[in-house]
Amino acid sequence: PPKQTVTLTINGTERQLELEPWVSLLDMLREQLHLTGTKVGCNHGQCGACTILLDGKRINSCLTLAVMHDGAEITTIEGLAKDGELHPVQQGFIVHDAFQCGYCTPGQICSVVGLVSEGKARTLDDIRDLMSGNICRCGAYNNIVKVVQEELE
Ligand code: FES
Repeated sequence: PPKQTVTLTINGTERQLELEPWVSLLDMLREQLHLTGTKVGCNHGQCGACTILLDGKRINSCLTLAVMHDGAEITTIEGLAKDGELHPVQQGFIVHDAFQCGYCTPGQICSVVGLVSEGKARTLDDIRDLMSGNICRCGAYNNIVKVVQEELE
């Protein structure tokens, strides 16, 4: 099939892209735009390493085709800091030492940003439940939860 033209606003910049219809949002970001802050883990929706914000909502970018999102607004880890200032969630990860190897961290951070704006998490159990799609093999969960708690205060 022929390539399709898709317009996306990525980290505040509108881009017109010519895409093969089978390219995932994840592969488009990493391979075409070289935004490699978004990580590949399982590549099938199990680990959350590829989490980005699509129109403000967190999604696993490995699970969706880029051509399905013409007109959408995408924020990746590269787009969270503004005017040389880290996003408060990024700052929170540093303050609470919420990572070890760092591989899952971009996805964790995007997921926390999405979670906070969803406004559904109230209790510790809610936070653990709503963050359960983001796996951390180093087990930094307790400190990640602290970041979320602080953001919800
Ligand atoms: Fe997308 Fe694991 S790489 S969920």
